[in-house]
Amino acid sequence: SKPKVWISRPFFPDIVDRLRPYFEVCAETEDRKHSADELAVCLADADAAIIGLVERIDAATIAGAPRLRFVANLGVGHNNLDLDALSAAGIGASNTPDVLNETVADYAWALMLAAARRVGAAERWLRAGHWQGFRFEGWLGADVHGKTIGILGMGRIGQAIARRASGFRSKVLYHNRSRLDPRIEHDCGATYVDKATLLAESDHLILVLPFTAQNRHAIGAAELAAMKPTATLVNIARGGIVDEAALARALADGVIAAAALDVFEGEPAIHPDLLKLENIVLSPHIASASRDTRRDMAALAVDNVLAAFGHGPHAGRPPTILNPGVLADASRPVFPN
Ligand code: GLV
Ligand code: GLV
Repeated sequence: SKPKVWISRPFFPDIVDRLRPYFEVCAETEDRKHSADELAVCLADADAAIIGLVERIDAATIAGAPRLRFVANLGVGHNNLDLDALSAAGIGASNTPDVLNETVADYAWALMLAAARRVGAAERWLRAGHWQGFRFEGWLGADVHGKTIGILGMGRIGQAIARRASGFRSKVLYHNRSRLDPRIEHDCGATYVDKATLLAESDHLILVLPFTAQNRHAIGAAELAAMKPTATLVNIARGGIVDEAALARALADGVIAAAALDVFEGEPAIHPDLLKLENIVLSPHIASASRDTRRDMAALAVDNVLAAFGHGPHAGRPPTILNPGVLADASRPVFPN
């Protein structure tokens, strides 16, 4: 019989159909997060899974999924996967890098511009019927063009954000665990600085860090205090990178001018102090949500699963596998062909 693939949320039927010649497809019809208990039931007899980035796969999940051989994550960030536990069990895992870089970079700019120019607050005010006519000194925001944009975490999304700055004649500073190759720095017009300089000199600071234990609350009260009082902060990475209580205080006290968050530490719960503020733009984790890119992400997840089981153009070589070591381990018949 065919191996079984479980798909945790509905997506593009024409893309799902590419699995059907090779797999028994069990696809959820409701787009929502599955709890650990639900995962245990759904994965009990699954050979492969395509999951959302809020579904946590850890050692306990794996222990209850004896047939599981491959997990494709619908997202680039994979802090929901315990890669060590997956690798130890010989289970491959993939994410969706690169196909979303430009779409996420567009959205980082959308949030930066919206926060700096107060788009959300002005719209709420207009819709509430407060507008009495054009005001010369009303709704003054901060410019983005010609200013210094800081990028903390400089992978390929950060580079795509940086490249957009040239049309705005903005200067780009970045900080990253490791410095980029000088040719890439030149290509995206970004200058490497230490974190303290990045915080002190950025007019607009965008966070693009992966979420790891070390990066939890990488931006807290001390970092916010080191920023310019006119600065805006944008987080499109993971919620836990920013200390939300500290951010709410900083925005209320004018420590920084504005912020925009697409991700939250306890999402979908939002820190209640953030909801009280007008100088913050809040969006529901949608940075990669363009029609084209979500299709590309779904297709890449499907390509990985097909390849892991020996099918399709990448047979045997899942194109964006995170733990390729599981493929090299010939002692285990990992992926039935
Ligand atoms: C979205 O948050 C992603 O990691 O792709
Ligand atoms: C603004 O509406 C202007 O005409 O300057």
